[in-house]
Amino acid sequence: MERRVNAVPHETESAAQDARPIYVLTDVSKVFPKRNVHALDHINLTLREGSFSSVIGASGCGKSTLLKIMAGLQPPSEGSVMLDGRPVLGTRDDIGMMFQQATLFPWRTVIENVVLPIEIRDGKAAARAAHDQARELLGMAGLSKFAGAYPNELSGGMAQRAAICRMLVSKPSVLLLDEPFSALDELTRDFMNMELQRICMERNATVFLVTHSIPEAVILSDVVYVMSPRPGRFVEEVVVNLPRPRTLDMITTPRFGALVDRIRGHLEMGVLE
Ligand SMILES: Nc1ncnc2c1ncn2[C@@H]1O[C@H](COP(=O)(O)OP(=O)(O)O)[C@@H](O)[C@H]1O
Ligand SMILES: [Mg+2]
Repeated sequence: MERRVNAVPHETESAAQDARPIYVLTDVSKVFPKRNVHALDHINLTLREGSFSSVIGASGCGKSTLLKIMAGLQPPSEGSVMLDGRPVLGTRDDIGMMFQQATLFPWRTVIENVVLPIEIRDGKAAARAAHDQARELLGMAGLSKFAGAYPNELSGGMAQRAAICRMLVSKPSVLLLDEPFSALDELTRDFMNMELQRICMERNATVFLVTHSIPEAVILSDVVYVMSPRPGRFVEEVVVNLPRPRTLDMITTPRFGALVDRIRGHLEMGVLE
């Protein structure tokens, strides 16, 4: 990290900045030797409990690789990943993940999809016992009426809501999101972002979001990490001190615009380096 920029230096920063560090990455690097790709270079990152952080960068700069390493799906070539005081050495229950595609199984109803992680972990009886909790999650996500529906009866936004419920069913303490709404149309995406904020605030979730939309990163995050490519490095950490809950009308304010400009500037510098 070269510099830390406070967009509005004299304001109090978000409460999460005093919260305990929950995710700690130390000098994480990743090389794919077969293709001689140096994907990540000495990434240092601390996420505090209840905070919402994003990483933004051009396609191919290493964002998904970073998320996979954080999730324990891939080992780093160097460095360490600690979650809640324990090293991440493989997939874990306290980590929830979500991707661009909802990947619901078409032959299972919505509620059966939501309890799938429980079924995989603890078996069918446990999954049945989790139906009440799944119904509660579906209610929170506005999908009560669709518990018994099949995925082909859902819109894209509804399928992603179901995927949010599936991610939350095992009560993860951190959520890793890889461009979860980028396949949705813009209006649905804005709406889903506000829903995501509401759900995360209700649960005091710790979230790390990969996105290549600057406004999406700003409206959702307490901190935005700007990543430059080849090898992927954090070149800037921008603190977003807009009040919460964020609302879509903030997007048109000068303060929001200044944050977007600042991040765009760093991204362009990264590309030109
Ligand atoms: N399993 C892999 N084997 C070899 N190269 C990979 C692998 N996964 C990713 N890469 C390379 O690492 C770089 C970063 O990829 P990725 O993390 O998917 O970027 P992003 O998510 O930012 O678009 C790219 O150059 C990509 O080709
Ligand atoms: Mg990616």
